Amino acid sequence: MKTLQVFSLHFLVGSLFLLSQMQGIFAENILENDKQALLDFANKLHHLRRPLNWDENYPVCKNWTGITCSEDGKRVISVRLPGLGFHGPVPENTLSRLSALQILSLRSNGLNGTFPLDFGNLKNLTFLYLQHNNFSGPLPLDFSVWKNLTIVNLSDNGFNGTIPRSFSSLTQLIALNLANNSFSGEIPDLDLPNLQLLNLSHNSLIGTVPKSLQRFPKSVFLGNNESLLNYTITNSPIVLAPRERAKNVGKLSGRALLGIIIAGSVLGLIGFGFMLLVCLLRKKTVYNFPGKLEKGNLSPEKAISRSQDASNKLVFFEGCNYAFDLEDLLRASAEVLGKGTFGTAYRAIMEDATMVVVKRLKDVNVGKKEFEQQMNLIGNIKHENVIELRAYYYSKDEKLMVYDYYREGSLASMLHDFLSNLARKRGDDRTPLDWEIRLNIALGAAKGIARIHTENGGKLVHGNVKSSNIFLNSRHFGYVSDLGLSTIMSALSPPIARAAGYRAPEVTDTRKALQQSDVYSFGVILLELLTGKSPVHTINGDEIVHLVRWVHSVVREEWTAEVFDVELLRYPNIEEELVEMLQIALACVVRMPDQRPKMSEVVKMIENVRNRRFQRLCLHRPVIETLSLHKY
Ligand SMILES: *[C@@H]1O[C@H](CO)[C@@H](O)[C@H](O)[C@H]1NC(C)=O
Ligand SMILES: *[C@@H]1O[C@H](CO)[C@@H](O)[C@H](O)[C@H]1NC(C)=O
Ligand SMILES: *[C@@H]1O[C@H](CO)[C@@H](O)[C@H](O)[C@H]1NC(C)=O
Ligand SMILES: *[C@@H]1O[C@H](CO)[C@@H](O)[C@H](O)[C@H]1NC(C)=O
Ligand SMILES: *[C@@H]1O[C@H](CO)[C@@H](O)[C@H](O)[C@H]1NC(C)=O
Ligand SMILES: *[C@@H]1O[C@H](CO)[C@@H](O)[C@H](O)[C@H]1NC(C)=O
Ligand SMILES: *[C@@H]1O[C@H](CO)[C@@H](O)[C@H](O)[C@H]1NC(C)=O
Ligand SMILES: *[C@@H]1O[C@H](CO)[C@@H](O)[C@H](O)[C@H]1NC(C)=O
Ligand SMILES: *[C@@H]1O[C@H](CO)[C@@H](O)[C@H](O)[C@H]1NC(C)=O
Ligand SMILES: *[C@@H]1O[C@H](CO)[C@@H](O)[C@H](O)[C@H]1NC(C)=O
Ligand SMILES: *[C@@H]1O[C@H](CO)[C@@H](O)[C@H](O)[C@H]1NC(C)=O
Repeated sequence: MKTLQVFSLHFLVGSLFLLSQMQGIFAENILENDKQALLDFANKLHHLRRPLNWDENYPVCKNWTGITCSEDGKRVISVRLPGLGFHGPVPENTLSRLSALQILSLRSNGLNGTFPLDFGNLKNLTFLYLQHNNFSGPLPLDFSVWKNLTIVNLSDNGFNGTIPRSFSSLTQLIALNLANNSFSGEIPDLDLPNLQLLNLSHNSLIGTVPKSLQRFPKSVFLGNNESLLNYTITNSPIVLAPRERAKNVGKLSGRALLGIIIAGSVLGLIGFGFMLLVCLLRKKTVYNFPGKLEKGNLSPEKAISRSQDASNKLVFFEGCNYAFDLEDLLRASAEVLGKGTFGTAYRAIMEDATMVVVKRLKDVNVGKKEFEQQMNLIGNIKHENVIELRAYYYSKDEKLMVYDYYREGSLASMLHDFLSNLARKRGDDRTPLDWEIRLNIALGAAKGIARIHTENGGKLVHGNVKSSNIFLNSRHFGYVSDLGLSTIMSALSPPIARAAGYRAPEVTDTRKALQQSDVYSFGVILLELLTGKSPVHTINGDEIVHLVRWVHSVVREEWTAEVFDVELLRYPNIEEELVEMLQIALACVVRMPDQRPKMSEVVKMIENVRNRRFQRLCLHRPVIETLSLHKY
């Protein structure tokens, strides 16, 4: 009995040990399998232009050209081998063994033969770029095996036969390009709400364009025999070209525009008068900080004494090492930094030269207890991508929030200010807004919002995500400010032109912000980063167009290139990254809130784009070094 127990214990320990050993070997073996699959692919293919640097003795994930692995380094997830002069068919049972593959680009080679049927094993395939090869024959009938396909580009090949009906099951599909092949037969009904980009031109398609695809402009069907393909434009509201719709819906009347301009200048005048008063008051060394300047009936001294009701104190958060009190704050000199949705922000400089940002809230709609609860929620968040609330103050007449002072301008001013644009074009800006920085800003801001969404049992809403509330932290990643206020403010004020472009449809309809509404607003920021355009901008000087609608219309009509900020197009080899980011942005600004990704998912998607970029850059660095060695 006893020996049996000892034996079984040994056996258990032994098998556990074995199991862990086996798991290790298993993991290594998987990558080893992927490596072998790639080597088989390379060995069986002839390529002309430049040799691959795929050396068996070097790590696959670290220095094989065109290969990217998963974060844990166990699987190959991306193979990008464009323009390497490959020709002949894709060797069977090679790439198809990379079962974790998500991105496959073999574009612009001379590959021929039929569509590799064994790609059916690549169940996680998300981006497929086979355009500009010499493939021929029909496509596989069943595309539903690739549930995650998002971009499919098969253009400029010799594929023939009918367009598989099964495309209609690819609910993630955003772009489908089958242009310049020999597809024949009728176009299947592809009712895919996410589909933004379609090109079926230059084929031999016949019949009638299905209703679901009539929202695309006629140009995507050009180059088929016009007398055989029927693009009916009759009695259906969907048929109206997207751009026309954008114009009609997005247009504000000239009068409304005038109203905005007048309101703007009045605000400007008030601001100016305010500053003037501030200067006058500063002479007396006491600045009536939460003063009633507009009413002008309260002396600074009275304001202080009133604010100092025994129960109303400046409440600091833990870990904050400021050493000032309300009186110091009230005595500080202050200047207006900006008027926001929820109040005015000031820079306050204390007598000991401490600088803080003080936000003076207007229209707070809740009592003291609820206000304090909300402040505690906000103050609890310690994260490098979220502004840290240092202190707050509540009295009947005044509600203040105190933050660290931030020197850099907001993302909005970096992207859209005339002067900073001018400076950047002249090349003398401290932070150039290159693609790398934009990616980092996006990632930081996304992480910040995702962190906010975990607070309060996963229910806290930022409520005011816009580029003028995004700043750069010391590592040049984005961080977010002005969070968590929408719930304590009286119903959202009428849309100011600037905030309007960020507001999700459900917020406009119900006046209630959800976490999904933050995702929408964040999508608008991504579009801003990609296009360089304001969320609401004018075209031809008098039409106001919302960025989301504009992007949709351009993307549908002229494909992607025209969408992007010309400044970004200077950087080589980032087109696919731009398109991937555009897909993320478009997923965020989907109309139905529950179809948008969660913020944590958005973070992951952006991280993926960034990691792949990083790995690619690392791969290319040694090559560049070799080149420069040759030079000297
Ligand atoms: C590949 O990695 C090895 C070391 O692991 C390094 O010595 C070599 O320079 C790398 N080659 C390339 C082309 O990256
Ligand atoms: C497919 O992707 C998901 C998530 O990205 C991952 O969990 C899964 O293991 C992948 N499948 C394969 C076969 O690698
Ligand atoms: C594609 O195939 C045709 C003949 O089938 C050939 O003439 C042409 O050179 C091929 N193109 C490429 C890029 O290999
Ligand atoms: C593929 O291209 C090779 C030459 O590159 C040619 O020999 C072969 O016949 C082509 N196959 C097909 C199916 O076109
Ligand atoms: C599709 O992608 C999601 C995450 O983006 C992943 O969880 C899922 O496993 C993928 N589907 C398949 C069939 O691999
Ligand atoms: C597909 O490939 C064509 C030709 O290279 C290119 O013009 C187009 O932008 C690509 N579309 C997508 C969605 O990648
Ligand atoms: C179609 O593709 C061929 C190469 O496959 C190319 O030479 C031709 O210019 C393309 N036609 C159009 C209209 O893009
Ligand atoms: C497709 O092309 C192949 C040759 O590449 C031909 O044999 C076949 O009949 C074509 N099929 C259709 C439906 O046109
Ligand atoms: C579709 O593809 C063709 C090339 O085959 C190109 O000339 C055309 O501009 C594309 N149309 C759209 C709307 O992108
Ligand atoms: C288009 O189809 C009609 C009717 O079948 C035919 O007469 C005409 O030649 C075709 N045009 C082209 C360019 O193929
Ligand atoms: C195109 O549609 C119209 C109206 O539905 C119809 O009268 C016409 O015959 C159709 N033409 C073709 C070629 O199918």
